[in-house]
Amino acid sequence: MVLQNFDVRKFLDEYWQQKPLVIRNAFSDPFWLEANDLAGLACEPDVESRLIMAQESEWTVKKGPFDDAEFSKLPETDWTLLVQAVDQWIPEVRDVLGAFRFLPQWRLDDIMVSYAPVGGTVSQHYDFFDVFLIQGEGTRRWQVGDVCGSHSPLVPNTPVRILEAFSPLMEVELSPGDMLYIPAKHSHFGVSIENSITYSVGFRAPGIREMVDGIATTALENLLEDDRYRDCAASLKAPTGAIPAAAIDQVRLALTQALLDDQTIADWFGRYVTERKYPDLELLASSSEAWQSRLENGACLERNAASRFAYVVTAERNQAMLYVDGHAFAVTTVLAEALCDGVDIDSKAVLEQTGEPGFADVVSQLIESGALLFMGDFD
Ligand code: SIN
Ligand code: CO
Repeated sequence: MVLQNFDVRKFLDEYWQQKPLVIRNAFSDPFWLEANDLAGLACEPDVESRLIMAQESEWTVKKGPFDDAEFSKLPETDWTLLVQAVDQWIPEVRDVLGAFRFLPQWRLDDIMVSYAPVGGTVSQHYDFFDVFLIQGEGTRRWQVGDVCGSHSPLVPNTPVRILEAFSPLMEVELSPGDMLYIPAKHSHFGVSIENSITYSVGFRAPGIREMVDGIATTALENLLEDDRYRDCAASLKAPTGAIPAAAIDQVRLALTQALLDDQTIADWFGRYVTERKYPDLELLASSSEAWQSRLENGACLERNAASRFAYVVTAERNQAMLYVDGHAFAVTTVLAEALCDGVDIDSKAVLEQTGEPGFADVVSQLIESGALLFMGDFD
């Protein structure tokens, strides 16, 4: 799928993580899902869903799975059904991701889909995600305000995160196919004007707190009691009660050596950003039996919709670390690129690379775990 009326270069230079943008008619046929399909998904036990309602200023949030009886009790107006990770369940929705491959795929969180009758809203709030809101069926009015953060007061005692103050800086009405990009932390407020479906393509940014925690934990696994602070000549020249800048430099050096070597950072980050959104959900898996001859006979591999792939090119020529669902594999850059870079996997290149026994094991493991599937096995 491709985006229309959209200049990728200009968007990345002037808008991405900077300011909101409306793209009219970004998609010509955005009817990938109907309200009934979404309700059906929200009844599945493995699917994460919420119903948010405001009746006479009283907010309620219910978590799925739901059942038909629950839906038939709903009022005519003023509620929103939200379903997470619909890209993992509905191929037509997953295909939308093809339009966003101009961004790093390891930044993608999911496509959340909401359905709201007239008046449905989740109120004024901000998210820590960069989000593209694509209007499916119906129309919705969006207002976008300024940058918020943990300091921004929230309305107390409600189950919904509502900003106490909200001053819109822009207002748009989205019709089917229109798209609104909202950078992370910008306040926003959408209200359904007609029964409306919205696709939110969300990109997450790892928090610095999580990075410090993750990298420190990894480093602690390797540090010993013996690893200690060491004085240097300059730090010994200071008055006896002083902690001189040279001592602080020694601390910084020790911390940098312990925590911040390129290998530790890349390895932690690669595993972290490829962790699955729902790691406890079992993946469907193709049989790994005779996988090489299936490829030789023209079968194609695809990435499991629930799996995450990324790679880091290493200092060694033509070598890369491949990260899949939080696991690391040493491979060639050609194999990593064939598995990760395209909308579709370059199965021919994968087959050529797996002439090497080590790489055959990698592909075999990825098929066994369900991260790689044979196309068509589960249609
Ligand atoms: C919605 O689709 O109703 C909510 C999307 C959002 O504000 O992030
Ligand atoms: Co939001």
